[in-house]
Amino acid sequence: MAPKFAQLFVSALVLLTQLLSLADARNIGVCYGLNGNNLPSPTDVINLYKRSQIDNIRIYEPYPEVLQALRGSGLSVAIGPRNEDIASFAGSQDAANAWVNKNIVPYKNDVSFKWITIGNEVIPGPLGANVPAAMNNIRYALSSVGLTGINVTTVLAATALGASFPPSAGAFASDITGTIASIAGILAQENAPLMVNVYPYFAYSSDPIHISAEYALFNSTSAVVTDGSFQYFNLFDAMCDAFNAALEKINFAGVKLAVAETGWPSVGNPPFTSVANAQTYNKNLMNHVLQNGTPRRPSYLMDAFFFEMFNENLKENAVEQNFGFFFPNMAPVYPFW
Ligand SMILES: *[C@@H]1O[C@H](CO)[C@@H](O)[C@H](O)[C@H]1NC(C)=O
Ligand SMILES: *[C@@H]1O[C@H](CO)[C@@H](O)[C@H](O)[C@H]1NC(C)=O
Repeated sequence: MAPKFAQLFVSALVLLTQLLSLADARNIGVCYGLNGNNLPSPTDVINLYKRSQIDNIRIYEPYPEVLQALRGSGLSVAIGPRNEDIASFAGSQDAANAWVNKNIVPYKNDVSFKWITIGNEVIPGPLGANVPAAMNNIRYALSSVGLTGINVTTVLAATALGASFPPSAGAFASDITGTIASIAGILAQENAPLMVNVYPYFAYSSDPIHISAEYALFNSTSAVVTDGSFQYFNLFDAMCDAFNAALEKINFAGVKLAVAETGWPSVGNPPFTSVANAQTYNKNLMNHVLQNGTPRRPSYLMDAFFFEMFNENLKENAVEQNFGFFFPNMAPVYPFW
């Protein structure tokens, strides 16, 4: 009896440790862009993620130095090809295999790839129609090297919605509905999330007459929008639920969302941009997504990536340059992590 009991005890301990480490990982990540000429080395950046206890990282291209620095880091990685490469994957299984063999296979034993994003905001757009076939070919390339279970998905911009207000009116733009339905079919089969970029900042700063700062910053203590039986206290939930309603309309209610980008700039367009607003939005967003789903998906906690790690001086304007949590010298823009 005794050895059996000991064995049971050990398996219980192992299980408990696994549960604890699961509870430990937050479904929160930060995007790491490289549009700056003064950014720290990838190794320093990955160490900064680790010191800051940021578990998930999103990168926009398979930069070899970044992938090298990610080895053994334990971070969960979202990675995508360059948008320009997607058409070749759609047209050629060999091209998809080559991308996977070059950028994923050499790292697969010590880098934890969780999401492969085929296209960042290419739908709507001229490249968009390539996405479903490119996703299938990349998925096939992964499974032929024994990699199953990685989420192969795409990232949509808010402009993919032809209607978004009230959230129940959410619908994909008619010219892309077929493409999105093909993508949703793949996602449903693989149980992978559809990724979306959600920026209450841009909605609010372009229409401050109709959208209040409190609603955009999660500061409202009463419902701002009532939509049938759903009550919205913040714009983020309303924007996400417009996507959920759009998925319901094409009969893919079961496809879940993950947020590939969200954030708030600290500089560039006062009074909408400020360090205080950026800090408020990001703090409130973090508390919100760690504890709450949206009104249409109340029990589903979405994975979310903040945009972004650093202020990047080569982006096109002051707002775009100032979404970072950190200055290029790695000093925090405001206390957060
Ligand atoms: C797939 O994506 C979901 C939602 O973002 C995530 O929770 C899950 O861990 C991912 N699965 C794998 C195998 O990486
Ligand atoms: C939002 O709430 C924070 C406190 O959580 C406060 O510092 C900030 O001034 C508020 N901003 C607005 C616009 O309501």
